[in-house]
Amino acid sequence: MALLIKGGEVVTAEGRSRSDIYVEGETIAAVGRKLCVAPGTEEIDATGKLIFPGFIDPHVHIHLPFMATFAKDTHATASQAALIGGTTTFIEMCCPSRNEDALEGYNTWKQKAEGNSACDYAFHMAVSRYDENTEGQLREIVRDGTASFKIFLAYKNFFGVNDEEMFHVLRLAAELGVITTAHCENAELVAQLQQQLLAEGKTGPEWHEPSRPEAVEAEGTSRFATFLEQTGAAGYVVHLSCAPALQAAVAAKLRGVRLSIESVLPHFLLDKSFAEREGIEGMKHVMSPPLRDKRNLSVLWDALQAGLIDTVGTDHCPFDVEQKLLGEGNFAQIPNGIGGIEDRVNLMYTYGVKRGRLDIHRFVDALSARPAKLFGLFPRKGTIAAGSDADLVIYDTDYRGNVSAAAQRSANDYNGFEGFSIEGRPSVVTVRGKVQVREGVFVGEPGRGRMLRREPQYGARKSVNAGGSDAR
Ligand code: URP
Ligand code: ZN
Ligand code: ZN
Repeated sequence: MALLIKGGEVVTAEGRSRSDIYVEGETIAAVGRKLCVAPGTEEIDATGKLIFPGFIDPHVHIHLPFMATFAKDTHATASQAALIGGTTTFIEMCCPSRNEDALEGYNTWKQKAEGNSACDYAFHMAVSRYDENTEGQLREIVRDGTASFKIFLAYKNFFGVNDEEMFHVLRLAAELGVITTAHCENAELVAQLQQQLLAEGKTGPEWHEPSRPEAVEAEGTSRFATFLEQTGAAGYVVHLSCAPALQAAVAAKLRGVRLSIESVLPHFLLDKSFAEREGIEGMKHVMSPPLRDKRNLSVLWDALQAGLIDTVGTDHCPFDVEQKLLGEGNFAQIPNGIGGIEDRVNLMYTYGVKRGRLDIHRFVDALSARPAKLFGLFPRKGTIAAGSDADLVIYDTDYRGNVSAAAQRSANDYNGFEGFSIEGRPSVVTVRGKVQVREGVFVGEPGRGRMLRREPQYGARKSVNAGGSDAR
């Protein structure tokens, strides 16, 4: 089946042009004017609309056993929510706990996703323990097409790895040429500060941020960077939330450490006053790293515009009201996480591009092209060009609305961004040439999504203490 999208303005990370897009089967066959098309080609009129490459969310949690419960979405609900919001590919954190084998966990995650996702997907493989079996299993997982790892420096005794384990993971990653993503907070300091605050009777959600202050994240970021430097591995800091952590990451980049930076939707739009709200309203906004002091928000926007922050993800991780209440009377037991997969594109477009904080090409870069490049998906994904997958977002910049839990596809009973106005939304979304969304409604094939297999792309670089130069 062929498809012609006519009259729109194509916007990529590199530029914009008034062009038609001709799709044959699953891929883009041509981009230009007056294209020759086969008889019977279906046409979509995109006059007055922008056309973006399908957006990529590099950090989501769907199946997630965590903090005595499970994150709320299924692959069906999360992927349809993603598509309604213009995200056509997500990369899910595959997170087995410390008492599960890596390979066993990987197979569980793959089975959960297979046949249930409406959009394409890949995994980052979390390593939560490094024992005599781990290395062989990780090699097998990379051979299977999962070419990125994840480590948590936080969450002591659950997902968290110690420094010795981090060293082994990064040394193997450097050898295999895969990138390692990392949640950077000092687990021991968090554990001690939590105990101290609780012993003082400070139990509400407003104490979550003081239990993991900015310095604790800066230390984790700086330690991760040092380990990258000493192993020669490539790394990616996930959900960076504050100025001191940014300084640590940028200092590492400047001295040549192969480090990329992600910040996530909540940290651009919400500050710690949301988590300081009374009772359940505060609990809804507990995530880690925590929502920060307001002064950090403009620092993140500026760093994003300047390209110091490479990507914007969501860290989509919804828990409903009943689950959040597990932490009533003890902030350390509030399941950590906020959803966002349905709202990232519209909110970053509205509060970034429309408000003049973010250039439209940097917007496409940070939410689509750069994740594709960093994680081995480019140019199949992340751009609009002949030969690329026909993942397209026809965007209606005249749409006006508000974020509302009542209207969302994600399986949660609230939305952390409730009431935020949006100025634009996807009108039509395609996945590999098939229309999956029209005007905010999923109209597609629920199981269309495929797992994207990726090749390692971070060739060996000698660690600094070996005195080597870049061999990439
Ligand atoms: O609070 C968060 N971020 N929850 C999800 C797990 C993680 O740390 O990414
Ligand atoms: Zn995290
Ligand atoms: Zn996460």
